[in-house]
Amino acid sequence: MAMNLEDRNSLFNFVVEEGYGVKGLMDSGLSTVPQPYVQPPHERIPIKNAHICEAARPIDLSLLDGPDHDRVAHQIARAAETLGFFQVVNHGVPVELLESLKAAAHEFFKQPPEKKAMYRKEVSPSRLVKYGTSFVPEKEEALEWKDYVSMVYTNDDEALQHWPHPCRDVALEYLKTSMKMVKTIVGVLMGRLGVTLDEERTEALVGMTMVNMNYYPPCPKPELTVGVGRHSDMGTLTVLLQDGIGGLYVKLDEGTDNGEWVEIPPVHGALVINVGDALQIVSNGRYKSAEHRVRTTETSARVSVPIFTVPKPWEKIGPFPEIVKRDGVARYKEVLFQDYMNNFFGQAHDGKKSLDFARAF
Ligand code: OGA
Ligand code: NI
Repeated sequence: MAMNLEDRNSLFNFVVEEGYGVKGLMDSGLSTVPQPYVQPPHERIPIKNAHICEAARPIDLSLLDGPDHDRVAHQIARAAETLGFFQVVNHGVPVELLESLKAAAHEFFKQPPEKKAMYRKEVSPSRLVKYGTSFVPEKEEALEWKDYVSMVYTNDDEALQHWPHPCRDVALEYLKTSMKMVKTIVGVLMGRLGVTLDEERTEALVGMTMVNMNYYPPCPKPELTVGVGRHSDMGTLTVLLQDGIGGLYVKLDEGTDNGEWVEIPPVHGALVINVGDALQIVSNGRYKSAEHRVRTTETSARVSVPIFTVPKPWEKIGPFPEIVKRDGVARYKEVLFQDYMNNFFGQAHDGKKSLDFARAF
């Protein structure tokens, strides 16, 4: 393979355009981090000492069905207002399915490059399935150490027909078993703000879903790279399955906690839930779409499987009127979600800057 790793064009061509990904780069026998992946010092992620973090103690969702309902609802709302992240157990998604999902992610990425590259955006047989690397490689100063495959859900038939084989059945099952929980949590969160969500309003918030499989190959020098750079998720709620390796960090509040970063530790059988930009917007800022990032590791490949639940593209998203009335001010303007998405995917990750698109003042 004629590839000069220090030449950005040559590397870009191999990793992005030919679809080898970071995994292909590592499989070519790499022992250093090529320059295009070296982050500027202020973006690098130091190893942190274990930090006691609320999100380390998962919330038992089954308690929502009993006498502890209000206490648990309060716990969920509190987490969504402060950290924007929490973990849940007894979530209704079978733990064996979580294990199968991680295995499926490894199976997809260990395929030969051409089996993955056939899903590159430019050539994918379906507009629903996209394999790629980094986030927006054309726009990034330093590339992210991550490959992914993204599967948008429209209906069962299309999913069965187009989603790649190693992931298809488990991803579909994961999506189905998670959505009940997502709707319950969104209902609890909006209920606390005095907003009643009927089926139509719920659909407007979480009517579009996609399952991603992320693959973070081992990295020769994790202190120089990022798996995913600082960002918030664009949608309503994200459900994330992470494996046991760790490395997911969330930024604490700038005002009260100096913007320190804490790790969301892996908990076997738990799912991570986080608030996205759309929920911050409709709640008029009450719920916080958390800034987060992923560190790479030296020894083994990490996988994660997020479900992004987002508004339908043609929905107009703005703070709910009953909340604005109570708050006396609308902190965000109404945006067509398609425009919000285009803006989100049009630039490199840059913390919570994505929200500026909807900021009212
Ligand atoms: C994401 C993300 C975190 C992880 O895909 O948006 O934040 O742990 N992933 O992979
Ligand atoms: Ni994210």
